[in-house]
Amino acid sequence: MKIIRSISTLKNELGRGKKKGRSVGLVPTMGYLHEGHLSLIRRARKENDLVAVSIFVNPAQFGPNEDYKEYPRDLRNDAALCKRAGVDFIFYPAVKAMYPNGYSTYVKVEGLTGNLCGKFRPSHFCGVTTVVAKLFNIAKPDAAYFGQKDAQQAIVIKRMAEDLDMGITINIMPTVREKDGLAMSSRNAYLSPDERRAAPTVYRALQLARDLIKSGNRDTAKIKSEMKKMLSVVAAKIDYISIVNPEDLKEVKKIKGGAKGKLLVAVAVWIGETRLIDNIEVKA
Ligand code: PAF
Repeated sequence: MKIIRSISTLKNELGRGKKKGRSVGLVPTMGYLHEGHLSLIRRARKENDLVAVSIFVNPAQFGPNEDYKEYPRDLRNDAALCKRAGVDFIFYPAVKAMYPNGYSTYVKVEGLTGNLCGKFRPSHFCGVTTVVAKLFNIAKPDAAYFGQKDAQQAIVIKRMAEDLDMGITINIMPTVREKDGLAMSSRNAYLSPDERRAAPTVYRALQLARDLIKSGNRDTAKIKSEMKKMLSVVAAKIDYISIVNPEDLKEVKKIKGGAKGKLLVAVAVWIGETRLIDNIEVKA
């Protein structure tokens, strides 16, 4: 496994492989890898001849008062995990390499980025799509792998890849959870022991929504109010509780069911100083 900092070196390494007909799988990450990332890497390993994992804490996707500086970093451990998982290349660029002086180009997906997390982190998705587009241009992967935990991100990236004819297969892998249901996230490292004990309530509230929908409740306001009751006990602040159509991320007021009948139930809450997001898909 090679750890590569230079954009041109990664381009050359992967380009050489592609010329020989080798497929490339890319797993974009911000590092501090956990089982969720490893599930993406394992799938990429299974499906491709060459696997590249990018580790880049992308300043463009953090708002001015967000946790860019504090975001956990541990390249040594990440490299050990990647090596064990059979990764060929870690791409670990400097901020200056990705955004040199004079950098002025941003990729913005409209429509899908205005609600849910986009409402509370207005510049976030533009930062995500910009860096992912850059990573795609650098690695030119055949396939890329993302987690369902960041459901809105996954939908936005799929849209971008399709709209810009990138010709890259976007694979979305299921959320990996701790035994008590908490969705794995690098940010879980911020939780104090008390907060960690409270955090699984986020998933419990999603399960409550699923149970209510499955037992025939059709009024999303009522479902959200039951979730709010449960979350209010542990959450310092609720950014949003949303029940949306997973195709266009529009809020659903009355659940209809029907042929497709899929709903995305998504939440973002603050447990102390830590913002947690989670979601589940429910078939109405
Ligand atoms: O999901 C993440 O870790 C990041 O948003 C991503 C996709 C690597 C872009 O920086």
